[in-house]
Amino acid sequence: MSIISNCTSSSIKDAAASLIKGDLVAFPTETVYGLGADATNKDAIARIYKVKGRPVGHPLIVHISSLANLDKWARDIPEYAVNLARAFWPGPITLILPRTDLAKDFITGGQDNVGIRIPSHTVALALLKEFENQGGLGVAAPSANRFGAVSPTTATAVEIELADFLSENDQILDGGPCSIGVESTIINCTQNKPSILRPGAVTKEIIEDTLGVTIELDISNSESIQIKAAGLLESHYAPNAKVFLTGSPTIGDGFIALDSFTTPIGAVRIAAPKTNEEYAQVLYEAFRLADIKGLKRVFVIPPTGEGIAVAINDRLAKSAFEK
Ligand code: TXA
Ligand code: MG
Repeated sequence: MSIISNCTSSSIKDAAASLIKGDLVAFPTETVYGLGADATNKDAIARIYKVKGRPVGHPLIVHISSLANLDKWARDIPEYAVNLARAFWPGPITLILPRTDLAKDFITGGQDNVGIRIPSHTVALALLKEFENQGGLGVAAPSANRFGAVSPTTATAVEIELADFLSENDQILDGGPCSIGVESTIINCTQNKPSILRPGAVTKEIIEDTLGVTIELDISNSESIQIKAAGLLESHYAPNAKVFLTGSPTIGDGFIALDSFTTPIGAVRIAAPKTNEEYAQVLYEAFRLADIKGLKRVFVIPPTGEGIAVAINDRLAKSAFEK
């Protein structure tokens, strides 16, 4: 495995060629780092599951570079989904749409729909464009972490998560820290009204303003159900340290809260974001820091309010799930 820290056009070309050959390329997006593979290559996709230790049947998001490629993967696209795509792509939303024959069971987990996203990070977009120039159709990319662990928001975090599992020809593209820090908003576009399956930086209010309709937050239908089925909800988005969303830290415990909260005596402050946006950006790195420091417990004061606080609280609830 090699880490490419200077993503020039020739290194992007190399990385795209690796994807075409069936190798894996981890790359930065504006949300979190993804572990990419050619979405039409069954063997490459099988390697994603192996490297992540992810149970088969969990569907993958296909990343494309432009709206022009959407109907290669999706059919019967409702008008509201086109409006969402126009408003937020490239950007941190994933649309779940009825699939075409190109989206095989090994991508969709056997479901009749497929998740599609156009990310906005310049390295991601350049890689996807070059991959398509070289004949590719889409890059499947789950977050580049082991199953159940915290998503990586830096190339170093990808390396810590996956170095032991990647092969010699695989690559990690370093595009700096992710600007958003939590995964994309997933929107179910398979019914006559959209609903949010996973909250993210594009919030319910923003989507409602854009479409002029009210929409549901339908989190029970998405990740949690699949994860429950695998009996692994407790370890999702979780560091090794045990996460507490109530109670007070004692000496040697980690502490995460907005900067306006003072650190309890003896606690180890591992993040002090000034805004909820910054909270999202630093949360996963703070969890990693807790593990690097060998902390056993981390106490978190969750953010309040609407907006991105909803996404942060969704991930915090999963990271703190009691066994
Ligand atoms: O921000 C993101 O979305 C990142 C970056 C790399 O793009 N990707 C990401 O992928 O978070 P992943 O695989 O870690 O999480 C995607 C979630 C999974 O829980 C999966 O079950 C759900 O999206 N998903 C994907 N395709 C789906 C589908 N067809 N129907 C329902 N859920 C789907
Ligand atoms: Mg993930």
